[in-house]
Amino acid sequence: MGYDAQFRVWRGDADGGALQDYSIPVNEGEVVLDIIHRLQATQTPDLAVRWNCKAGKCGSCSAEINGQPRLLCMTRMSTFTEDEVVTVTPLRAFPVIRDLVTDVSFNYAKAREIPSFTPPPGLGPGEYRMQQVDVERSQEFRKCIECFLCQNTCHVIRDHDDNKPAFSGPRFFIRVAELEMHPLDTADRRDAAQEEFGLGLCNITKCCTEVCPEGIKITDNAIIPMKERVVDRRYDPIVWLGNKLRRR
Ligand code: SF4
Ligand code: F3S
Ligand code: FES
Repeated sequence: MGYDAQFRVWRGDADGGALQDYSIPVNEGEVVLDIIHRLQATQTPDLAVRWNCKAGKCGSCSAEINGQPRLLCMTRMSTFTEDEVVTVTPLRAFPVIRDLVTDVSFNYAKAREIPSFTPPPGLGPGEYRMQQVDVERSQEFRKCIECFLCQNTCHVIRDHDDNKPAFSGPRFFIRVAELEMHPLDTADRRDAAQEEFGLGLCNITKCCTEVCPEGIKITDNAIIPMKERVVDRRYDPIVWLGNKLRRR
C-alpha cells in the first residue's frame, strides 16, 4: 500500500543551503533513492544526486539519512514508519558541490599516496602462487565499493578537516593492510602506515566497521593487525638497535 512520506532534503551548494520539506508518494518495496528520483521527476528537476548502479555495488549514492551514513539505494523505505520525517543530507566529511553531491576527491588523492603492489623482481604474470588462506584474506578487503561511508564516519576527519593531510582513513588502512598481508608483496609499508597514513591517529572506535555496507571488518581484520605489525617492528630489539646506530 502506498502512502505520502515527509522528506526533508538539504538543498544548496558550497556557499550554503538549507533543508527543504517535501511530501512525496511512496510505493511498496521502494528505497530512498526511488523517492529522490520521484522528487526529481515531479517536484525538483534540478535536485543533484550521484548514483549509478542502484544495486549497492558502485558506491556512488552515499549520503546521510536521519544523520546516519547510508547508501540511498540500499536503504528501504520500510525502515521508517509512515509518519516519520526522512531527512537526507550530503556526506558531512567532504565539501558539498551541490545538494546531495559532495567532492570526494580527497579519497582519490589518498589512494595515489599508497605505493602500489611490488612483486619480487623477475616474477612474471602467471607465475604467482598463493595459499588459499592468503587469497581469502585479501578478498575481504577487495569487496570495498569505495562508497567512502567509513571515511565520512571516522571522527578523526569528520569534525577535524585539519587532520585530513595526515590521515588517510579506514578505506586506505584496508588497502595498506591488503598489500602488507600479501605474500608476494615485497615492500614494507609499516613505517609509512604510521608516519604518512596516520594509523596512530585511529583510536579503534570501530564506527567505520559499523557503517560498511560490504560488512568488511575494517577495524578487527585490517587496522588492529596493522597496528600490531607496526608495534612488532618498532619494538623489535634488532630494528631498535639498527635505528639507534643509524641516528649516531
Ligand atoms: Fe565503503 Fe566499506 Fe569500502 Fe569503506 S571499506 S569505502 S565503508 S565499502
Ligand atoms: Fe576511525 Fe575506524 Fe579508527 S572510525 S578511529 S578509523 S576504528
Ligand atoms: Fe550504486 Fe547506490 S547507486 S551503490
